[in-house]
Order: sequence, then structure tokens, then C-alpha cells
Amino acid sequence: MTPISRRAVLRLLSVAAAAAALPLHARRFGADLGVDPALFPQAVASGDPTSTSVVVWTRLAPAAWGRELVLQVSEDSGFGALRVERAFAVGADTDGCLKVRVENLDPGRTWHYRFIVVGSRGDAASPRGRTITTPADDDDRDLHLAVLSCQDFSGRWYNSLLPLLDAPLDAIVHLGDFIYETTADPSFQSDDGRRVVFDDADGALGLGDGGFQAARSLDNYRQLHRVYRTDPALQALLAKAPLIAVWDDHEFADDAWQDVATFHDGRRDERDAERRRASEQAWFEYMPVDVGGGFEGVAVDAAALHPATRIWREFRFGRRASLTMTDYRSARPDHLVPEDAFPGAIAVDEPTLRDALPRIGETFEAWAPKLQPYVALGAPEYRRWRRPLARALRRAYAAEGLGADEVDARVEAILSAPMALPVANAILARHDASAWFFLDAGPIPEVPGLPRGLSWAGVGKSRLFDAVGSRYFVFADGYGLLARLRAAGIEGATGQRLGSALGEAQAAWLAEAPTRNAHTRWRLVGSSVSFTPLRLDLRRPELQAPAAWAQEVLLNVDHWDGFPVEREAWLDRFDREGAVLLSGDIHASLASQHRPRVVEFTVPAVSSKCLGDILERNVTGDAATREAGQRLAAALDPLLRHGYAGLRYAQTRRNGSLLLRIGADALEARYFEFDGALAGECLYEQPARWRAAVQEHRFIVVRGEGALRLDAQASHQTRSSGTVNWA
Ligand SMILES: [Fe+2]
Repeated sequence: MTPISRRAVLRLLSVAAAAAALPLHARRFGADLGVDPALFPQAVASGDPTSTSVVVWTRLAPAAWGRELVLQVSEDSGFGALRVERAFAVGADTDGCLKVRVENLDPGRTWHYRFIVVGSRGDAASPRGRTITTPADDDDRDLHLAVLSCQDFSGRWYNSLLPLLDAPLDAIVHLGDFIYETTADPSFQSDDGRRVVFDDADGALGLGDGGFQAARSLDNYRQLHRVYRTDPALQALLAKAPLIAVWDDHEFADDAWQDVATFHDGRRDERDAERRRASEQAWFEYMPVDVGGGFEGVAVDAAALHPATRIWREFRFGRRASLTMTDYRSARPDHLVPEDAFPGAIAVDEPTLRDALPRIGETFEAWAPKLQPYVALGAPEYRRWRRPLARALRRAYAAEGLGADEVDARVEAILSAPMALPVANAILARHDASAWFFLDAGPIPEVPGLPRGLSWAGVGKSRLFDAVGSRYFVFADGYGLLARLRAAGIEGATGQRLGSALGEAQAAWLAEAPTRNAHTRWRLVGSSVSFTPLRLDLRRPELQAPAAWAQEVLLNVDHWDGFPVEREAWLDRFDREGAVLLSGDIHASLASQHRPRVVEFTVPAVSSKCLGDILERNVTGDAATREAGQRLAAALDPLLRHGYAGLRYAQTRRNGSLLLRIGADALEARYFEFDGALAGECLYEQPARWRAAVQEHRFIVVRGEGALRLDAQASHQTRSSGTVNWA
């Protein structure tokens, strides 16, 4: 990276359009230059529009690095009325990316742009792009937005974008997972068809016993962006309207928080600031965003990267709407339940609970039946069980691949802390089953008067290192209690406090959004993850769930479900002024009415494996519970609706996109959905097939008397997928 001061970056940031079209004698190139797609393998894009500016982007193939690269911005598609013609140069510093903020444009109009490589054997143009400045502050015209998330490339195609290519669009909102950091992770990706193989294989992380890799180096992350942006459907969409994007986890690493990845579920420290910064640099280079520097072929400003990154920002579309784009990943604290939490450890003990529960309006007596008795194994009366427990635990941790010293340290820590009695006895039973009879320890008796506390098992943790019980499938009661205690500042055993998911600075900024946008009719809030609770009642008799799982569970607390107290506070706040929330990441369509004036549309994955399919794969892998898993997977959509009264529409088996038309008093939302199996096929050249395959589900949000009312409209389904129950 070329060392460059922040001031220098700011000075180079933008180009001002001329006030009127350039006279013919002042322009260097004719309108009808030949296009050379090979010189522009990622085509063009634009983004982050204001009423007077927009960022335009391209990437030049390495063969042409160093050659003069000219940007033209015109009022007309024939490039006859040029308002900008200016030369730049790009090279290895930005991987050939050029990003220019074009200023001094007129509000609310369409602009045409292209790039021209100047060469000794003739000049060649990029494909043409079209972009749109936002309307002036007092302009109240209709607004059309596409909303997208989760566009996995490995073995998958972006058919979901096809219905948007001939729709009117003012901007494209992308809520993250623009790229995926892994190459064919078998838990959700395919390795047939197209895929990414890292050129810098040594710079990548090996995962899954060497079977696939995750990006780590700058070159790895650049390559992902480079390859994803070769998709012709994505190129066509990005050439049509400006992009407004935030990242989610996969732009860095699955279920990440700050600079910490979660691939190894706590087996090792996965904090990696260098990796985080590499992922951010590539994002700033490749995305046409007006943050983070990296303009005009100048290397991204290192001072703008982690931990100083700020990508949350706001857009205004005249009087009609504001769009507040949030960042859920950069500041959020760790998941509340550590992936390596020992299930028998006590997260919150009885004295703490007796003291704390009244402070959150609860009583210890009411909670006691749901808590677990626990014993202090250091006490003399439990001496005889320490050795068999230590033996069994050592074996279990060694089987997880830990070194001897770490095994000893973990086992010592566990035995010197209180342990939930049911967990201790389950371990002892396993021990006895495989021990010689004279080594039998027998169970620890449950004597009256044992203290009771919330163990990690009581939150759903059942293995030593696992996302289940930590990020996924946590018990709703136990997790809810833990989250409320933590939000009230009650720390418990781990000493972990629950900070804001957004970080203090962003939270303060988001809280001010209604004031900033008091004059707009509609306030939209973009969040990479959904506010909709995904609560499944596995006690329902038709599921015949194994006894240990017959609980109410939260499917994914990597999302806002992980911060229930803060989530409710935001929803209450949004309800005061009214808001339409837009979210993604969960690979499902969800339409929710959270409050009288808060509606949310969660968009399905453009191409990533659908939630229902991921769940089915993961809950049917174990032969012992396969049938129960199949029942659960088959019942997922109705279970989601039963679990949350505000959820009006849920589907988890189709990919798709969302198109919003925002009128003065009604907002129309149309989901375009394709059966998940079709993501493995490219339908770009088969219009008849994709038109026959697309299913449309339409909703209207009506601005009424102090309310936003979410209504389902008659849905157009060319191929019925069965009934959809409108609550
Ligand atoms: Fe995703």
C-alpha cells in the first residue's frame, strides 16, 4: 500500500461535474467508442447517491494498469451531453479499482457513465452504467428500491435478480453477505458448477480438515469480490441503479463479531485484526460506497479500517423517504453464551439470582423449578467423585484435539467451580458405563437444600465446543433470563457485560434518526440481520421431539434475538415515529408487524442455501434423531409463525429478492421467489423458464392514523407452493 496521508486522500476524493454539457471541442472521445469487456471484467457500478453526488466505480484488468483511464458522465445515454470527462490512473494499490465521487450533479435525475482506456492501438470503453441522484429535499416523487442479501457464488446463480432487471429502480439496497468468505463449505455451499479457488492458497485459512478454505489475506478477499462481480446478472443490475450497501458477517467471517471469527467454536482464539482489516480494505475498494476512502485509484485509507471503521450512514430521497443503514457487526459484543462454555458450569448462581431477580421484576421462587441444583466439587463430601469426573472430562477434551496442558487447565477450572448436578451425573454415568466395575463412581445424590442456578446446559449447551446452545437453538427461557440479567448490568460467572449490539456511537446516531428525518413521509431502517424473533416451540406434540429438546428455542441468537432487551427498546423507539425495517441474512422471507407503527421485511437470500434446507441438513445428520429432525424441518414455517404473533409471512425454502414501491400513503412490497433447488441452475438465458418459475408475494403497508398497517395482497403464484397463511 502506498503510504499516503489522510489529508491527501481527502484532497483527491472527488470530481465536480461541469454546470452544463461540455462543448464538443472540449471533449476527447467520440460517443460511439467500441466496448472491450475484457478490459473491464467486473464492468461498472455506482453507489451512495445524494441529491448532488454519486460514487461511480470500475476495475481495470491488470494488463491495462498504468494506462490513462477516463471517466465520462453524461446527461444522456448517447454520451452527447457530457458533464464530466476526466482522466485517472489505477494500479496494484487498489487492485485496479477506481472509485470516484462525482459532485455538482442535479437532483433527482438519471446519469450515464462509462470509463475509457486510452491506448496506443486505440481507445476502448467499458460497458455503460446508469445511475440516479436522489430527489431534492422538497421533491415528493415515488421511490423504487430493490432489497437484497446473501448472494453466495459457489455452485449457485443469481436468478433472483432477473425480475429486477426490467423493474423501475431508484437504488439497490444490499444488506450484506455480498460475498461469502469460504470456498465450498459443505454445510451450506456447493462445490459443483462455478466456485472460487484462492490464488493465494497459502494466505487462506484451511477449514474442515483441509477440505475447504476461508479468506484471510487481502488477496483472498479481493479475489472473492473480483470473482463475484463477474456474474452477468449482478453486473446488469449494478449498471442500472446506484447501490447502497452495508456488510454483514460473511464479508469477513461467519457469525463474526468485531475482528473475531467463530469457525472453531472456542477451541482457539480467533481474534485476527489483520484479517478483519484485509476484508474491510477489499470491501472499500470494490464497493461503490462513499466511506472508507479508496477513491480515484488511491489506496484505501488505513486509518478508516478496523477498529475505527464507520460504515453506518443515511440516505434521503426527497420528502418521500429516508434510509438509515446500520452496521451490526463492527461493534457488537461476543455472543452471550460462549461456544466453549462447559454445559455444567453455572452461569448465574443462586445468591446472584436471589439478589438480581427482584431487580428485573421476577422472584427466585418462581424461577427455581426451571433452574438446576448444583454442587461445589471442591467440598470434602464430593471428594470421591472428583477423580472419575476429572478422568471423563480429560478424555472428552482430549478427544476435541486439545493439548495436554490445556486439557489440564480446563478440567482444573471446571472442578474448582460449581457444577450442575444433572450434568455431573450424566458425565459419571458415561464414565461408569466404560469403566471397570471397581472404578464405578455412582451418581452424586441429590440431597435437599442444594443451591439452584442457571447452568449453560439450562441455556441449551450440551457439548464442549458447539454453536448449538451458544449461537443457535438456545433455550428461550434460560437465554431470555440471562439476556435480561446481563442487560441490567448483572454479570454472573463469566463477568461478561452485554454492550449495545450497535456500539454506543452508532446507537446514539440511530436514536436521532427520526429527528433528522422529521420531514420525510417514510423512515426506512436497513439492518443486516432481522429484528423478527425466530422462536420455535419444540414441545408441540406433533413434533415428538426428544425430551431434552422439548423446549421453546430461539433458532439464531447471532441475530437481534441475541439482544432481546435492546431489540425491544429499539422497536418501542421506532414505534414513536413509525419505521419500515429492511433486513436479511437469515435466508428466509419474513414479513412482520412488530408494533402498530413498525413493519419489517426480511429478504430471502439471492442465492445462498435457504434456511429450511440448511436446518434440514443440520438436524438430520445424526441417525438417532433423524426422524425428529425431519419433522422439525418440515414444520419450520408454521412453527415460526406460531412462535411470533407479529409474523405475517414466513417462507424458508425459496431464494429471492424484494422490490419496494414507496408511494405517498402506501408502500408496496413484492417478494420475487424461486424454489431453492433452482439456485443451482443458471436461468439467465431462459426467460420463459424463470418467468414460469418465479412466485410473487405482495404486501401493502398503509400509512394510517398513527399506524402502519401491513396487509397481504392477493399473491400471484404461477406455481403454487401450497398455502400461505396470513395471520
Ligand atoms: Fe447469508
